[in-house]
Amino acid sequence: MGLPRRPAAVFVGRQEELTALQQALTVGPGVIAQAVIGLGGIGKSELALHYALAHRNRYDLVWWIDAEGAGAIEAGLAGLCRALCAGMAAKAAAQASAEEATAWALAWLATHQRWLVIFDNVEEVDHLQPYLGRLHTGQVLITSRRDRGWQEIGTVLRLGVLAPAAAVGLLQSLIAPGIWDPDAAAELATELGELPLALKHAGAYIAIWPGGRPFAQGASIDITSGGRAGLEAAASTTCQSSSVSSSTMTWGGRAG
Ligand SMILES: Nc1ncnc2c1ncn2[C@@H]1O[C@H](COP(=O)(O)OP(=O)(O)OP(=O)(O)O)[C@@H](O)[C@H]1O
Ligand SMILES: [Mg+2]
Repeated sequence: MGLPRRPAAVFVGRQEELTALQQALTVGPGVIAQAVIGLGGIGKSELALHYALAHRNRYDLVWWIDAEGAGAIEAGLAGLCRALCAGMAAKAAAQASAEEATAWALAWLATHQRWLVIFDNVEEVDHLQPYLGRLHTGQVLITSRRDRGWQEIGTVLRLGVLAPAAAVGLLQSLIAPGIWDPDAAAELATELGELPLALKHAGAYIAIWPGGRPFAQGASIDITSGGRAGLEAAASTTCQSSSVSSSTMTWGGRAG
C-alpha cells in the first residue's frame, strides 16, 4: 500500500460520503472511476485517505499518485512500476525511462483486478484520459478542484463543507478542555464556513494562544481585539495561502 501519509487521527463527519464512495467503487464492469471534487481545503484528500485505509483489505494494491500536472502523473505511475519491480527486476526498473516505467505500470494494472489507484489533485481531465483509456479493470479514485468534465470518465461526488456539528467536533478535538466553549466554537465554525482547513488552522491557533485567551476570557468569540484579529488573520492566511483563492479560479468560471 502506498499512501502519502497516515490519515488525520481525528476524522469528523463524512459518513454519507464514505458510503457513497464504497457503493460507487464496488459495482460495475471494467475500470471504475470516481471523482471527488470541491474547493481547496474542503477535505477531498482526507476523505480519499480514509476511504483507502478503511477498504485496503479489498485490494491487492492501493497506490497514491500526487497528480498535480501531467508530469506528476507520469512520475507517479513510474514510481508504481519501481515499487512493484522488487528483486530481480529492480535494477531494470530503476534504469527504465519514466515513459517505459509508466508503460510497465499500466500493463500491470491492465492485467490485474483488485487494485485502487488514487490520483490526488488532478488539474485537467485530459491529463488522465490517456491512461484510463488503456485500463479495463480496477478502480480509480480522483480528487480535483476542477468541477467539470468528470462525468465523461466516471461518477462524481461533490464534496461540501462539514455539517455544523462535525465542524464543532473538529474544533473540539484541537482545543484543550479547560478553555473549551461550545457556544463560541459553534459561532466560530459558522464564521469559518465549516471549511475543514480553516477550522484546523483556527483550532491550532487557539490551542497555542497564550493562556488560551480566546475561549478562556468569555463565552463569546468577541474577544480582545488582538485575539480576534489574530484569529481572523489565521483564517485568512489559511484561505489565501493554501487553497481557497487559487481553487476558486479553477472552481469558478475558468473551470470546464
Ligand atoms: N472530515 C475531516 N475531519 C477532520 N479533518 C479534516 C476532515 N476533512 C479535512 N480535514 C483536514 O482539513 C485539512 C484540509 O483537508 P484536505 O487536504 O483533504 O483538503 P483538500 O480538499 O484535499 O484540499 P486541496 O484541494 O488543497 O488539496 C487537512 O488538514 C485535513 O486533515
Ligand atoms: Mg487535497
